[in-house]
Amino acid sequence: MAGMNIGIDFGSSSTIITEQGKGIILDEPSVIALDIETKYPVAFGNNAYTIDGRTDDNIEVIHPVLNGVISHYSYAQKLLRYYLQKVLGNKVFKPNVIITVPSGATNLDRRTFVDVVISSGAGKVCLIEESLASAIGAGINERSMSGRMLVNLGGGSVDISVITMGNIAVSNTVRVGGIDLDKAISRYLQRNRDILIGPLTAERLKICLGSAIKREEEIALVTFGKSGLDNMPISFEITSTEIFNCIEEQLEQMINGIKSVLEKTPPELIGDISDNGILLTGGTALLFGMEKRISEETGIEVKTVKDPLYNTMNGVNSILDNFDMLTEGYSFQNVHHIN
Ligand SMILES: Nc1ncnc2c1ncn2[C@@H]1O[C@H](COP(=O)(O)OP(=O)(O)OP(=O)(O)O)[C@@H](O)[C@H]1O
Ligand SMILES: [Mg+2]
Repeated sequence: MAGMNIGIDFGSSSTIITEQGKGIILDEPSVIALDIETKYPVAFGNNAYTIDGRTDDNIEVIHPVLNGVISHYSYAQKLLRYYLQKVLGNKVFKPNVIITVPSGATNLDRRTFVDVVISSGAGKVCLIEESLASAIGAGINERSMSGRMLVNLGGGSVDISVITMGNIAVSNTVRVGGIDLDKAISRYLQRNRDILIGPLTAERLKICLGSAIKREEEIALVTFGKSGLDNMPISFEITSTEIFNCIEEQLEQMINGIKSVLEKTPPELIGDISDNGILLTGGTALLFGMEKRISEETGIEVKTVKDPLYNTMNGVNSILDNFDMLTEGYSFQNVHHIN
């Protein structure tokens, strides 16, 4: 396609933008900081992320993309417009955009993505399922007959797809992700120990201590929060076993989503998946013991792609270079196609 061609992963946790021929040109958290009273944005992306949990009660930090889909239209539009202006500078031509969507996105979700991208400054838009882009990013031969299962464990969702001959045969999106694990940790500390922590601390505790299987050796961390009793700073210790127990419910929902796709998958493809193994991608795939847990629960070998946080965008990059690698049914749309 002529003009500037870019790829966007507008994820629940982060937004990544890639440009044809250049690679990744933007990688920032998908958050906006709002003034609580006026609801007016005061910071976007990296700036908003560092504010989260650090300021007084006048500012709230929100995720306009939640559980993989656009949950707040006008803030999503403002955030994407900010990012597009940042990468486009004073370029006059509107870019053609490939944007990833969860395979379980409804028609309304898909339309909203197209609408938001075009109203934020894009020319034409093509939607592609996140798992298909991940498969291409992982170097899976997209036209291969042999069935592959891709599980994208993201910040706000788990997208599970069985792919054969470049098409998604069976899929499911579970609306639970890494952000929900962070929230479970904050909730646990508040309810059981009367300690308040910010989202960045919760995420750090998850990354340092969290696990999808019980660790053989318990580890612990000392960190800071606020006492719920008197609102004063408090230093406290928390163990890996406590974190494991408080994220178990969310982990089970993720695993049940994978099992339900396996149940719906035709026998021939199940044979292929058993031979090929299940492939994990997305940031939450990095949780300690995730491969082992999924393998134990499904009885199928599990591997993680080389670069789980960027693998999907590597796939989008390949598509930008060679759009013909997609099967029929994918095209660039403009605003007239969506009304
Ligand atoms: N080492 C790690 N261990 C556990 N979780 C991690 C690790 N590194 C990143 N994460 C988590 O990965 C999540 C972000 O993953 P990713 O960037 O794939 O999500 P996303 O694409 O923005 O979300 P979605 O696809 O659900 O819309 C965050 O919840 C983050 O805390
Ligand atoms: Mg994602």
